[in-house]
Amino acid sequence: MPVDVVLGTQWGDEGKGKVVDELARYARVAVRFSGGSNAGHTIVVEGRTYALHLLPSGIVRGGLMNIVGPGVVFDLAVGDSELKIAASCGSQVLLDHSTPIVLPVHRALDAAREASAGSGAIGTTKRGIGPAYSDFWLRRGATLGDLRVSQDIRLVLEGGGWFDELVAVARHLGFTPEMANELGLSIDPLSMQETIDWCAKYGPVIVPHLGDTRAFVHNAIDEKWRVLFEGSQGVLLDTFHGSRPHVTSSSCTLAGVSQTFGVYRFDRVYGVAKAYCTRVGAGPFPTELNDEVGAILRDRGREFGTTTGRPRRCGWLDIPALRYAVRMGGITHLCLTKLDVLSGLGEVRVCIDYLFSPNGLTEGTTLTGTVLRSVRPHLIEMPGWIEQLNEARHMGDLPSAARCYIDHIERVTGVPVSLIGVGPGRNQIIKRK
Ligand code: GDP
Ligand code: IMO
Ligand code: MG
Repeated sequence: MPVDVVLGTQWGDEGKGKVVDELARYARVAVRFSGGSNAGHTIVVEGRTYALHLLPSGIVRGGLMNIVGPGVVFDLAVGDSELKIAASCGSQVLLDHSTPIVLPVHRALDAAREASAGSGAIGTTKRGIGPAYSDFWLRRGATLGDLRVSQDIRLVLEGGGWFDELVAVARHLGFTPEMANELGLSIDPLSMQETIDWCAKYGPVIVPHLGDTRAFVHNAIDEKWRVLFEGSQGVLLDTFHGSRPHVTSSSCTLAGVSQTFGVYRFDRVYGVAKAYCTRVGAGPFPTELNDEVGAILRDRGREFGTTTGRPRRCGWLDIPALRYAVRMGGITHLCLTKLDVLSGLGEVRVCIDYLFSPNGLTEGTTLTGTVLRSVRPHLIEMPGWIEQLNEARHMGDLPSAARCYIDHIERVTGVPVSLIGVGPGRNQIIKRK
């Protein structure tokens, strides 16, 4: 089948944007199928950096049809600015008419819940993701298709009392105008009239792009066009399979594609993994380094959130978690990014096993939040390398210690490493089988 998928295998920010940009060379259609503007996908082309949150990374290549599916939650303000980027790159965009809209009140609620949760906060991106998905599963809320007729938005917002309910909860949680300022919101998120006007403002921008994306994708597959699905976040942030409650509110595995597009046959499912691990926000992280080495990784890898600017927590590569992600994600091939960041470390460590949990771990134990919190990593030392890798374009250009590192990952995960990232730039990549 001419269908490939790119998924994150860790806690997001593995370099999916760059991998999609590379694979988009061979695709005619690129599709975002999950998440919202919590995502931040970076593509660096000839010194210019694109940080995309909502539209597929395929827009940067130009010439592809770029699709936002019905499983994405869509912030109109972000969509508006990224449609401009797409146009400047000569890219077409099709947005599903049933894609739920993230309203300013969802963002208000996200922020108010986090602020009132104290030590129980998840560390969300405050992009309204959880509240918007909650409304979707509660079978209510506005969709992009509702923008077609401006009167529809009023009917949707006024009908059923759900908007008023969200406002009441946000007020109850102590939402303040200062919080709206901190979120950079241009309107009072608790005002229905301002929300209606906000939606109406974006209608003329969004409506020309609306369509039936499921029909488009299936017809494209029938025509043997190569379709590339772009995941957001990562398997360990998946609502079902991740380290609950410190997860996002959407499916980050292959299931997310099948669930939202009804596509069940795939060619390659690429799992993107950093050569080490990072995490933004709260939650268990067995191989986390709260020391100088962690700071070196953060510094060299420029590990600061694309969406929120928060410093990312850094740690060694976690093989048990990667094996789990390969299994749960449906991964057939790996893309190992940021191998260059490990250059010059005297030694490189890898977690090959988890040492301890109250009940003991068996092979294939589900890595729930509770399990991940209770394990200790069994780290082994592997030979490091001092050479810079940024100019490497073939396996033969890599020092043998770096090749050993890759071999080790292939051996323990049982899947081939097809792409290797050696720098942020579009061309800083080694392509294999
Ligand atoms: P995504 O969310 O998975 O698309 O990843 P992000 O874009 O949030 O974060 C990945 C960061 O690493 C971005 O700043 C990329 O430009 C950068 N990056 C991607 N691949 C590589 C690589 O192989 N080496 C280095 N040094 N940086 C990379
Ligand atoms: P990309 O696609 C890294 C994290 C947040 C928080 C948790 C829940 O760029 O890899 P949410 O706002 O989704 O309710 O936050 O998930 N998170 C991400 N971390 N990369 C992302 O996306 C993320 N999207 C959400 O930091 O811990
Ligand atoms: Mg990111």
